[in-house]
Amino acid sequence: MPDNQLLLTEDGSHTLLSNEHGVSYHSKHGAITETYHVFIDAALRFKAAVQKDIHILEIGFGTGLNAYITLLEAIKRNLNINYTAVEAYPISEASYTQLNYTDQIESEHGALFLKMHQLGWDQEAAIHDQFYIHKALKKIETIDEKDKFDIIYFDAFAPNAQPELWNEDIMRRMYKALKPSGLLTTYCAKGVVKRTMKSVGFMVERLPGPPGKREMTRAIK
Ligand SMILES: C[S@@+](CC[C@H](N)C(=O)[O-])C[C@H]1O[C@@H](n2cnc3c(N)ncnc32)[C@H](O)[C@@H]1O
Repeated sequence: MPDNQLLLTEDGSHTLLSNEHGVSYHSKHGAITETYHVFIDAALRFKAAVQKDIHILEIGFGTGLNAYITLLEAIKRNLNINYTAVEAYPISEASYTQLNYTDQIESEHGALFLKMHQLGWDQEAAIHDQFYIHKALKKIETIDEKDKFDIIYFDAFAPNAQPELWNEDIMRRMYKALKPSGLLTTYCAKGVVKRTMKSVGFMVERLPGPPGKREMTRAIK
C-alpha cells in the first residue's frame, strides 16, 4: 500500500491522510491547534493543576504530535510524565521525517521529536528526564490495565471510519485502565459515544470544541 499522504492544515501544521481509512490524522482546521485544545488544555492542564506526576495513555500514537507536545509541556510546567502510546499501524520513517511540527513549534527541544520516533516499538525509554515513554505496538482492543492512568488521550479515527473502536467493550477497557478521578478526552462529541461512555460508568462533560467543531468530550471516572 502507498504511504499516507501529507496534508497541510489551516494553522500551517501537517497531518496525514490515512490510506487505509480515508480520513486525516487530525482536524483539517489545524493539527497543532486541535492537540492543544483537546488533549493539552482539556486534559493535561486540568490534571497538572493538582499533581505533578502524571501517567498518560494515548490511543493512537500516529504522527507523535500529541506525545511531542505533551513532552514540551512536561518540561515547561515541570511535570513528570509517564506516557504509554498504543499504536497498531505505525507510520513510516518517510512519513514522520516530513512532518513540520518542529518548525511550527519553536523549541530548543525539537530534536526530541525524532528521538521519540526512533525509539523502537515495544521499547521504553526516558526521552527527557521529565518524559518517559513506552511505545506499545498493539491494538486497543487488547488493553487490559487496571487503575493505572490519570489521563487517556482517546485519539482513534472517528466512529464513522472505525466504529469498532467506540463500542462498549473499548469504553469499559478504558474506564478500567483509568485511576479513580482519571479522565479521558476526545475530539468526538457524538451522542451515541457519550451514551456508551455513561453506560460503563463515566461522568461525561461537553466542552467547546476546537476550530471547526462545536463540541468535544471529557469523561471522568
Ligand atoms: C486519529 S489518528 C491518531 C493521531 C495521533 N494521536 C497523532 O498525534 O498523530 C488514529 C491512530 O489510531 C491508530 N489505530 C487505528 N486502529 C487502531 C487499533 N485498533 N489499535 C491501536 N491503534 C489503532 C491509527 O493507526 C492512527 O495512528
